[in-house]
Amino acid sequence: MRKRVLNWEEARHSIGVPAVDEQHRNIIIGINTLHQAVAKELPHDAIRSLLANLIQLIDQHFSFEEALMQEYAFPEAESHRREHRMIVDRARHLLNALTPARPLRTKLAVAYLTDWTERHVLVSDRTLGAFLIAQGAAARPRTALAAKPLAPGRP
Ligand SMILES: [Fe+2]
Ligand SMILES: [Fe+2]
Repeated sequence: MRKRVLNWEEARHSIGVPAVDEQHRNIIIGINTLHQAVAKELPHDAIRSLLANLIQLIDQHFSFEEALMQEYAFPEAESHRREHRMIVDRARHLLNALTPARPLRTKLAVAYLTDWTERHVLVSDRTLGAFLIAQGAAARPRTALAAKPLAPGRP
């Protein structure tokens, strides 16, 4: 299991679409908040609610990207959407399996979200970003891109 914390690095994580980058930054902040809560051994209920908020934030972000993919007819939309669903389904499964009696499960859930979020941003979202930039979507935002950035979950 990885111990490292995921931090936003512009050169590494930016996909060149400011509205999407802003949401990715907020998700990374939410993951770090969760990391810290686990490290400080906060009460189970507090950690559980942080994880639930984070999953909701990720789910909203995925819906935002899916609206963009549809609006710009992204050719890889179906496989990208499948990956989104897989991440959220797995995260919800991990949330439902959390119990104070098995603290290792919490650590596994955090490690899973850290790894999958970064992998998805670095590979699939980067491909989407390159496509949107080629379509002029990053420079000339349409309706979906004008949506407000998501606020990170609070403890
Ligand atoms: Fe995505
Ligand atoms: Fe994303």
